[in-house]
This record gives sequence, C-alpha cells and structure tokens, in this order.
Amino acid sequence: MFRNGMFALAALLATLSFSQGPPARRPGGPLPGIMPREAELFRLGQEDFMEVETEEDGLGPAFNGNSCSSCHAAPAVGGVTAMTEIRAGRREDNGSFTELRGGTLFHLFSNPEHGCQVEIPREANVIARRAPTPLFGAGLIEAIPDDIIASRADPNDTNRDGVRGRVSRVFDLAGKRERVGRFGWKAQQATLLAFAGDAYVNEMGITNDLFPADSARGLTAAQLAACGSTGAIEDKKDEHGLRGIDHFENFMKFLAPLPRGPVDQATQRGEALFESIGCSACHVPFLTTGPSNNPVFDRKPVPLYSDLLLHDVGTGDGIPQASAGPNELRTAPLWGLRSRKPLMHDGMSSTIDDAIRRHRREAGNAQQRYLSLSDDERNWLIAFLNSL
Ligand code: HEC
Ligand code: HEC
Repeated sequence: MFRNGMFALAALLATLSFSQGPPARRPGGPLPGIMPREAELFRLGQEDFMEVETEEDGLGPAFNGNSCSSCHAAPAVGGVTAMTEIRAGRREDNGSFTELRGGTLFHLFSNPEHGCQVEIPREANVIARRAPTPLFGAGLIEAIPDDIIASRADPNDTNRDGVRGRVSRVFDLAGKRERVGRFGWKAQQATLLAFAGDAYVNEMGITNDLFPADSARGLTAAQLAACGSTGAIEDKKDEHGLRGIDHFENFMKFLAPLPRGPVDQATQRGEALFESIGCSACHVPFLTTGPSNNPVFDRKPVPLYSDLLLHDVGTGDGIPQASAGPNELRTAPLWGLRSRKPLMHDGMSSTIDDAIRRHRREAGNAQQRYLSLSDDERNWLIAFLNSL
C-alpha cells in the first residue's frame, strides 16, 4: 500500500514537472547542450575558480583577493561582489599620463600582512575605482569574431550621429597575435585565457606562463624579494595536466548567461524606447558568434546589449589602459543587469536611472532623450532594463 502510494506520488511529480516544461536554468550553471567531457571541465574549472589560495600557493606578495570567486560570486559563482579595486597614476600638466612604478593597479592586501603593503605614491593625482564585471556568457562573447565587432566602429563619426566607437586592438598573449579586445571595462583583453593569466597575477599575485612576473606596484625589486617573491612560475599543472589558468578558462567559457526575466507589455514598450531614443546605438541588442565545430558556439545570437567598442561617455576614469584612452570605456554589456549592484565602472551608481543620467558626450543625445521621456515611458524603459 505504502509502496503503491510512493509510486503514485512519483508518477504525479513526473507529470507535474513534465507539464511545466523544462526546469528553469539555475544561475551559475553551464551552457545547455555541452558534451559530458565539457561539463566535467566546467565543474573542475569552477572548483579551481572557488579555491582559496594561500602564501604556499604563491598568493601575493600583493593581492586584491584570495580566490577568483572572492570578487565574482553573486548571484552565483562567476558574478560580482560589492568590492572595488584601485587604479592610480599621474596626469602631467601637458595632459599626458605617467604610470608610477610600472603600472596603475595598487593592491589592497599584502603577504606578510603588515610587511609589504603597497602605498599609492605621493605623486599620484589620479585615483580611480573599478567594480568587478560578471562572467556569465563570457564564452559566447569570446566566440564573436573580431571583424563583427570592428564592422560597427565609426571613429570619425562619419554618419554624424554623435556616436563614434573605436576598436580596442590588443596583443593577445594567449594566441600571440593582435586581436580585438572585448573583456574588461577597457576592453583590455581579447581572450579568456589571457584574462585568466592577467587576473591570476594582478588580482592574486600568482605568476603563470602568460604573466611570469609578480606585480606589486610601489615595491622595489628588493622589497619584492624580501616579501617572498621568488621569480618562479607559481601556476603549475595539476593531476589533470591542466594549469590554474586553463581551469579558469574552461569555467568561464562554458558558464551560461543568466536567464532573462519575464517579458510583459511594459518591458516590450521599454524595449522599443531603448531602440528609438538611441541606447541601442552602443548597447547593440545582439552580436553573432562565428562558425565553430562546437555546436554551442556555432553562429549563435548573443543578446549582450553591447557593441564591445570603446566610447567616451563622459564617465572616463583618467587611466589609459591597453588600447583605451584615459576617458574611453567599453560599452557595458547589459545582460544580467537586474542581478547586479552597484552599477558603472566605478560602482558609484546605485540605480539604473542614475547610471543613465551620468551618460554624456557620445551618449549625450540619448541621455537628453531619456530625460525628456514621460514618467510612464521612463518606467517602461527601466522595467525593460530590469528584465535583462
Ligand atoms: C579582487 C577582486 C577580483 C578577483 C580576486 C578577481 N577578479 Fe576578475 N575582475 C575584477 C574586476 C574589478 C574586474 C573589472 C576589471 C577592469 O576591467 O578594470 C574583473 C574582470 C574580470 C574579467 C572580465 C570580464 C568581462 O567581460 O569584462 C574576467 C574574465 C575576470 N575578471 C576573471 C577573473 C579570474 C579568472 C579570476 C581569478 C584568477 C579573477 N577574475 C579574480 C575583480 C576581481
Ligand atoms: C555612446 C555609447 C552609449 C550610449 C548611446 C548609451 N550607453 Fe549606456 N553605457 C555606455 C558605456 C561606455 C557604459 C560604461 C560607463 C561607465 O561604466 O562609466 C555604459 C553603461 C551603462 C549602464 C550601466 C551598466 C553597468 O553594468 O554598470 C546602463 C544601465 C546603461 N549604460 C544604459 C543605457 C541606456 C538606457 C542608454 C540610452 C538612454 C544608454 N546606456 C546609452 C555606452 C553607451
């Protein structure tokens, strides 16, 4: 009797979940449709991404966090946290920019804790904060061909709409050739492997094949040595034959975009306004991946709401980086917007409304049109953005 009851219950649950269609995708999960081998690489990568590193693993001497997930964690591993990190340098009277002591990143923490703390040099007169960017769907962004991004650039504003857009050309250390940058606030890296190497050394002080030298701005070579930097490569292959940077690449490559929120009449009206007032000139609703042997990356529309180009929207932080000028930033992708706070590169906007109001210069026309919307129209636009 009891057993029959259990069977009946199981059957009922099966019909229920069947009638409701496929289960909702969990934020932070892998791209649907990947092969079992890829799912395993994703899982191993996620484990390494979350691993807390210590001084024995090479953490430091200067660092900003002790695991990738210490800054990429909400609403699921791969997202963001509320931290910001510090970049600094010097703007000279003639307008040129000087990197102080070989770089612009100034670390928050040190190993040993009180012995090797980085100081922002006295000569610095530009200090900027940068919020983390989310990694959901990063593998799809990586699969967008260079020429698709480059084809939208209009550096001389030939169509006279005020919106320019410049390609970020960077040397990709992973593929050892020039590529179109697309990751980071300044579109400073083109591939996930190169970003992984950059983040491992710059956020955590763990040297690797792509970035073999410890970075600790403000410390001399002698101080670096005294603080435990040996000059050796700290990121080694593990029992799977993979380096840490390979694991991070695998996790980010197969990490699914966040599922989109519900669409209703208000969000649809908002989407039409987003187009008509000119937001989509930069926040391009989708770009398409190139041909690939892997079906999950093969000619897929990527609804990222960005052109991945550099623009001056009047919020620049004064720090030149890779191919980006001091006041240029990559159009922030807007997918997943409802799942992150704070907003903008400096983490200084607490609401979507405030982020839009801060747009100027190349985005000045769109911002003016936003300000002249009726209250209802503004609410629809924000409802649309909150559905991404
Ligand atoms: C201390 C905080 C912190 C840690 C630790 C950290 N990140 Fe980040 N991450 C950031 C910030 C801040 C940005 C934006 C940086 C910028 O563009 O200036 C970022 C951006 C990124 C991006 C660019 C995504 C995009 O589309 O713009 C990637 C990829 C990335 N991180 C990977 C990693 C990996 C892999 C690790 C571990 C090795 C890691 N991060 C560790 C703070 C962190
Ligand atoms: C000229 C290109 C351009 C136009 C036009 C433009 N944006 Fe942006 N947008 C950007 C850039 C670049 C950033 C990053 C700015 C920063 O972080 O300081 C950004 C950031 C944002 C953000 C914050 C995203 C985040 O992750 O923090 C939102 C929201 C946003 N834009 C919405 C809009 C809306 C709505 C419109 C139309 C009214 C618009 N944008 C028009 C280029 C543009």
